Amino acid sequence: WVLMATGRSPTNIAVIKYWGKRDEALILPVNDSISVTLDPDHLSATTTVAVSPSFPSDRMWLNGQEISLSGGRFQSCLREIRKRAQDVEDEKGIRIKKEDWEKLHVHIASYNNFPTAAGLASSAAGFACLVFTLGKLMNVKEDYGELSSIARQGSGSACRSIYGGFVKWCMGKNDDGSDSIAVQLADETHWNDLVIIIAVVSSKQKETSSTSGMRDSVETSPLLQYRAQTVVPNRVLKMEEAIKSHNFESFAKLTCADSNQFHAVCLDTSPPIFYMNDTSHRIISLVEKWNHSEGTPQVAYTFDAGPNAVLIAPNRKNAALLLKKLLYCFPPQDNDLSSYMVGDKSIL
Ligand code: DP6
Repeated sequence: WVLMATGRSPTNIAVIKYWGKRDEALILPVNDSISVTLDPDHLSATTTVAVSPSFPSDRMWLNGQEISLSGGRFQSCLREIRKRAQDVEDEKGIRIKKEDWEKLHVHIASYNNFPTAAGLASSAAGFACLVFTLGKLMNVKEDYGELSSIARQGSGSACRSIYGGFVKWCMGKNDDGSDSIAVQLADETHWNDLVIIIAVVSSKQKETSSTSGMRDSVETSPLLQYRAQTVVPNRVLKMEEAIKSHNFESFAKLTCADSNQFHAVCLDTSPPIFYMNDTSHRIISLVEKWNHSEGTPQVAYTFDAGPNAVLIAPNRKNAALLLKKLLYCFPPQDNDLSSYMVGDKSIL
């Protein structure tokens, strides 16, 4: 017999960034972060997990290609879910006792509905989906907060993708990471007018992974300490307030400032890390000039560990205007920008 479960998780975009760990093994961050989870129709991972007594080992396929499960992060997620597995009895009469889960092996198949090569964060959606789907298969009863802390051990940003809408990852204080969990600030129906546009500046794989980049920043950047201790706590409070009250002006200012400070920390790292390129800088100038000329933010921008721009507009009108400006400044034949993805609040 084979028993299966399938789940889908979207990726998320941080508006207050996570950058730096205080514990590498447990993936505990040096500051809180806040993100918006995208619409699952656009940027998400879909994972099917199967269990059968005939499987001799755990195996995983990503977009059809088998990948190694030997990494500590996969093993942590599998181990933590297996520990919490419960009795299962399905409608076809298959019964698994909770003590039997330790002896059974799983096969995992995961797909991204966006090109992995697009250089857009896929580990957040991937690990959130893996943990959620394994939990479903093994009848895990833990709440979403607990699941988020398991997803965190796969990739820090994955803990925020357990929820839709606006999500805060609370850094926590405990050494064992038990209070380093994600909480939902507002669900996916909140602030429905927001439109997110992702400008794919480069589809090349990034040169410095987030994991090694933030390790270098923790070790060498004095700005990182100041950011984590002095700047972010205050920004998180203001961002929560902006989200609650749909205050786009404050939301946009905080989002842009936090992206810029994250990239300043990267430059302050030794050797410096350059995630943005000339096209990214030109997009920032375009938005800054537009916002300045109107006297109030029309669009917010944020960049993760790569050159692609995530642009957030308060409504469809501004999103349409932005696209017009982008297409004018970066005509498709220029090849500077390889593609645009547009969608509602939630994205594409
Ligand atoms: C810039 O979650 O990919 O996207 O925890 O080492 O897997 P690991 O790193 P990861 O880092 C994400 C960094 C970021 C900011 C963010 O998403 O908050």
